[in-house]
Amino acid sequence: MKKIVVALDGFSGTGKSSTAKKVADALHYIYIDSGAMYRATTYFMLANEVNLDDHDAVAASLEGVDIQFLGSQILLNGTNVSNEIRTMRINENVSKVSAIRQVREAMVAQQQQIGRERGIVMDGRDIGTVVFPDAELKVFMTANPRVRALRRQKELLEKGIEEELNTIELNLLERDKIDSSRAESPLIKADDAVEIDTSDLTFDEQVHKIVELAKEIIHADRD
Ligand code: DC
Repeated sequence: MKKIVVALDGFSGTGKSSTAKKVADALHYIYIDSGAMYRATTYFMLANEVNLDDHDAVAASLEGVDIQFLGSQILLNGTNVSNEIRTMRINENVSKVSAIRQVREAMVAQQQQIGRERGIVMDGRDIGTVVFPDAELKVFMTANPRVRALRRQKELLEKGIEEELNTIELNLLERDKIDSSRAESPLIKADDAVEIDTSDLTFDEQVHKIVELAKEIIHADRD
């Protein structure tokens, strides 16, 4: 059967990652959380006290970054950092790191390599525009900021991290601003992406919608 690429882009906290994971399960596809790669890189930079304003230093230190996925875990140089990359400290620095051209080039090259055989669902900010401009299905997810902050708060709580709703919402809005206005691959909706506003959709509804869109494309060639 034909294998496609499903590119899921959108703002922080729209439920992209959990949705993408479920969509991948339903299609029996690989799921790649590209944001986790930028987060792991940020974790590495902070742990090694790399000056984030010195882009040459950041670029040089990328040599020490090896990212692998093991099921739903992300490994940084062989160590599982899946939880460590979800803290507020990473949230506060990841947009800065992901705005650096050399970081993006390294991540995009690895993402394209992972997806070369298709059969993949990848979520992020530039998947439909830069990483897989030829993706058969592109989805752009949006939701209002309060709904997004509430979802992120719940996610953090499940990991035992308590955070004020307003702090989360401000951080999300700040990241939206940096992500959308950066020079390198800003977050924009691809012309051929389907926009889905998830504010009033349940999780199952948004998953169902995307799976149906994907199935239509997968089966279209059979006729
Ligand atoms: O999806 P997320 O919140 O885990 O992403 C973390 C950060 O990484 C986000 O602020 C923007 C950046 N990012 C990016 O620039 N490009 C991607 N493809 C994915 C994430």
